[in-house]
Amino acid sequence: MAKISPSVLTADFLELKSVLKEFEDAGVDMLHLDVMDGIFVPNISFGVPLIKSVREHTNLPIDTHLMIDRPHRYIEEFAKVSDYLGFHYEAGSPVKETLLKIRELGCKACLTIKPATPAEAIFEYLPYCDMVLVMSVEPGFGGQKFMPSSLEKVEKIKAEAEKRDLNLEIEIDGGINEETARLAVKAGATVLVAGNYVFSAQDKKEKVKEIKAL
Ligand code: DX5
Ligand code: ZN
Repeated sequence: MAKISPSVLTADFLELKSVLKEFEDAGVDMLHLDVMDGIFVPNISFGVPLIKSVREHTNLPIDTHLMIDRPHRYIEEFAKVSDYLGFHYEAGSPVKETLLKIRELGCKACLTIKPATPAEAIFEYLPYCDMVLVMSVEPGFGGQKFMPSSLEKVEKIKAEAEKRDLNLEIEIDGGINEETARLAVKAGATVLVAGNYVFSAQDKKEKVKEIKAL
């Protein structure tokens, strides 16, 4: 059974308290928080203060996805409010050191790759990761179309993790709906991020259940 990590990027932030309750009732596994700086990606979202408030109102694990330039500069602050903390391979930070720092600060370390980055680029870092996030859209915005090329990358990362006997979660993010979720799970994804698909539904609980059952 896949885990689900709904992204609150498309939520009405003034409604977050009730959204969190809905997600808890629906049995989601964690909450995906998309941090964007307007430099690494062409969009600005939110930072530590919002995540801190979310954390104070839920017991769900916080899965922070940093889409910021040179993220090592902010790891300590985000680690205080996160359970899973992920950053981009392409963002200009020393990869191994940053992953180790995240673990040292008590979070699960997650390395993320953009659609143009091959899976092989991060093989050497897998031993320092608790989770790998494969982007299935260009990071920056919710509501984009799923890129099928991400599936092969999930397969390759899964195979490499098995070869090295690593216990690794593989998360996929962008354009997830019932159909693409099915393909992602088949390829080896264990954590599914879903934004628009869940938020556009009348009944979020039903959508979450549908995806979780895959
Ligand atoms: C995009 C973000 C995603 C996004 C997913 O940069 O990383 O987490 O919110 O949204 P959907 O599911 O709508 O593609
Ligand atoms: Zn994300």
